[in-house]
Amino acid sequence: MEATLFARDIPTTIPTQPAHQLTLVEDRVSRAGCDALIGRSRALRQVVERIGLVARTDSTVLIQGETGTGKELIARAIHEQSARRGAPFVALNVAAIPASLLESEIFGHEKGAFSGALARRVGRFEEAEGGTIFLDEIGELPPDQQPKLLRLLQERELQRLGGSKTIGCDVRVVAASNRDLRAMAETREFRADLLYRLDVFPIHSPPLRARSEDIPLLVTHFTARLARRLGQPPVAVSAATLAKLARYSWPGNIRELQNVLERAMIVWKGGELEVELDEPQPAKREAKVDELSAVTRAHILRVLDDCHWVIAGPYGAAARLGVKRTTLNARLRKLGIVREACAARRANPGGELRAER
Ligand SMILES: Nc1ncnc2c1ncn2[C@@H]1O[C@H](COP(=O)(O)OP(=O)(O)O)[C@@H](O)[C@H]1O
Ligand SMILES: [Mg+2]
Repeated sequence: MEATLFARDIPTTIPTQPAHQLTLVEDRVSRAGCDALIGRSRALRQVVERIGLVARTDSTVLIQGETGTGKELIARAIHEQSARRGAPFVALNVAAIPASLLESEIFGHEKGAFSGALARRVGRFEEAEGGTIFLDEIGELPPDQQPKLLRLLQERELQRLGGSKTIGCDVRVVAASNRDLRAMAETREFRADLLYRLDVFPIHSPPLRARSEDIPLLVTHFTARLARRLGQPPVAVSAATLAKLARYSWPGNIRELQNVLERAMIVWKGGELEVELDEPQPAKREAKVDELSAVTRAHILRVLDDCHWVIAGPYGAAARLGVKRTTLNARLRKLGIVREACAARRANPGGELRAER
């Protein structure tokens, strides 16, 4: 099979939506159009095969895998290969929405349902009617919301907050998590009954280090795209550089590869592309201590990214790492981790609680 396993152009469908929602949905749809799953490794081929199998059905899909491995791309691919492709694909990142707003986001609300509910708002499930809803980072769903989502999934109908009308919903559910939901169910952080309701058809999104044979293809694809975007001529990447990239552990997976290449392209002055990696090569044996702190650092950064830099509280990074908030703050200072320094590493979905300086 060739480079692109499915690079079918995703049509920019205009969903039948009320006018005030059109821009948002269109924006999401058109962004979906620019990416395809690149690779021909066995691990990725298995994923593509499972996408094809499940796309023919309406079954709920649970995608698990590390951050940056392409879970959202997989979800979009399922939608685009399904009979629902002409209807909306609505992505809802559970971790990016403050807990207090989540219920209204999911179910919608009627005017006056709570103070501040100045107008009726259609929820994301209703917005996705006939199409697919992608519940990203579902492991972050607060405990009080879990039974409500479970009921919605079981009954396939909902009521807006403050409303009395029952609205049927014909929506295909694809959920994703970078946390081990089974382990979370064992520790009762995640309801087992909700897990079973979601885990109908599991897809494992493999980390980049488990499919490093895809790196040359990905590098070619991303550098060509970046060159176009930056208005630069195509660049050459040496075999030695590709080998270096293949040896690296990629804690941030494909998103990190994209960032590394973008940085390299920005400073490129001609000749072969030179890439800088954040972490020492695992092959280097001299600097064990540095290596360890680099690994710790990468891990902490990944967790911080996942938690949107929220440190304290039940969904904060300290809890996730199993340490006290004060311990984590001390460690951040020691490792010199400040939010600005890592600005390029993460999207910024408006969390108000930030890492303490
Ligand atoms: N197999 C792949 N081929 C090409 N690009 C990919 C692939 N997997 C992921 N990406 C890109 O990597 C980035 C991260 O993917 P995303 O789906 O957001 O990951 P996740 O949801 O698992 O964090 C996106 O820009 C996506 O387009
Ligand atoms: Mg994601």
